[in-house]
Amino acid sequence: MPQIALVPRPRSVEVLDAAPFVLDQATTVVVEPRPELIQVAVLAADLLGRVGDQAVQVRYRDAGERGVVMLRIDDQLDGGDEAYRLVVRADRVDLEARSIAGLVHGIITLRQLLTTDRQRVTSAPAVRVEDAPRYAWRGLSIDVARHFFRVDDLKVVIGLMAHYKLNVLHLHLTDDQGWRLQIPSRPNLTRLSAASAVDGDPGGFYSSSDFTTLVHYAAARGVRVVPEIDVPGHVNAALHAYGELTPSGEPTDEYTGIEVGFSRLHADLPATTPFLQDVFADVAAVSPDAYIHIGGDEVLTMDPDEYAALVATASAAVRATGRQVVGWQEIAHTPLAPGTIVQFWDPRPDPAPFVAAAKAGAKFLMSPGSKAYLDMKYDRDTKLGLEWAGHIELRDSYDWEPTTVIEGLPPESVIGVEAAVWTETLRDLPELLSMLLPRLAAVAEVAWTAAELRDWDDFRARVASQSPMWERLGLAYHASPQVDWEHA
Ligand code: ACM
Repeated sequence: MPQIALVPRPRSVEVLDAAPFVLDQATTVVVEPRPELIQVAVLAADLLGRVGDQAVQVRYRDAGERGVVMLRIDDQLDGGDEAYRLVVRADRVDLEARSIAGLVHGIITLRQLLTTDRQRVTSAPAVRVEDAPRYAWRGLSIDVARHFFRVDDLKVVIGLMAHYKLNVLHLHLTDDQGWRLQIPSRPNLTRLSAASAVDGDPGGFYSSSDFTTLVHYAAARGVRVVPEIDVPGHVNAALHAYGELTPSGEPTDEYTGIEVGFSRLHADLPATTPFLQDVFADVAAVSPDAYIHIGGDEVLTMDPDEYAALVATASAAVRATGRQVVGWQEIAHTPLAPGTIVQFWDPRPDPAPFVAAAKAGAKFLMSPGSKAYLDMKYDRDTKLGLEWAGHIELRDSYDWEPTTVIEGLPPESVIGVEAAVWTETLRDLPELLSMLLPRLAAVAEVAWTAAELRDWDDFRARVASQSPMWERLGLAYHASPQVDWEHA
């Protein structure tokens, strides 16, 4: 293992000629007593305490003792909002960042530097790390509609996201098989359409207070939550709850299969626009993020004008709440408001309309199915997952460049990278994790690390040091044959 095995790889790591920092009873996290700093200090003390298996205290004064981990906000630091500088020396650790998110990144870097030897001494090598992300949007999209994942499951995933410096949890909350977010103005959505899931498995939904819990848990770890309500297709759960959304006026049957593209809203029904307005207003009421995702994918039974009208209605409903719109790539075929984010997923169509949308001001979030869809099987023998976008081994999820995925796209229109995991075949947290790990770490490095610092052989050597933590925490992972994994 390389001595410094950080994932994702930082901008610069300088090994200092000094003894390591030892985490022991003397270790204390020190911050100024401001509420948001205290929260991040408590997180630091908790994480470090768990690595070293002993309680770490938080204090508000640096009396110059040995063992201080000093956290400080420095508005002048180079590298943007999420930049941080971490200096580890024998007697103390100094972490500076421009923001709380930057402090969280630095704490995670310190955590990754700490190892425990056979004498049970936990230490970090003396280093100076200067770091900042390549992309501001580093996401993971999780389909909680095909199978439901409880708040406690998502907390584990959020912890992993923070560990790899991912900062956007995108929740695909609705689909044909189930509706997973309480919508107070439309109570039937969860009353009638939340209990179902693929194959008749149990469903579930997030109450408004569950969602708020998730948002706060994520925010404390530097992660935003972006909710997706998928329209105008993938809507059978809505049509099952409200018959007024169908031409016959009758609700549809529950659906627990895994076909796509058959369900749709209707632009000419009087109930449709109020439905979209009410749903997106209620989503905005519980979701503080600046973005709401409207879906827009795979509407296979609608003419382009009706599709464009429904995307416009959904977008207007989102914008009426003061939020910006994200949608899957199909929305690029409609007129888009400035600031709209197009999430690219299917490399099969002609790139020209995407290039045109970018030139007209749209921003692109890159989730190419053949690289970033972490529900694809690793190889032929993988039990879970699908294969429509091919097999994705660890190297496939690492070796790609976001700015060249769409031929001719201006590179500056790419604002980020998002992994996605669809859950038709994934029923519980271990099954979900076995698809995420180790590939989530690879996509995270694509999103965080400067292109010129990325190298497969170097990543392959570094990622091997991640498995002992997964094993200690009992997290399922795919022991990819491409890596010589270490063991706890
Ligand atoms: C998608 O995979 N239908 C966005």
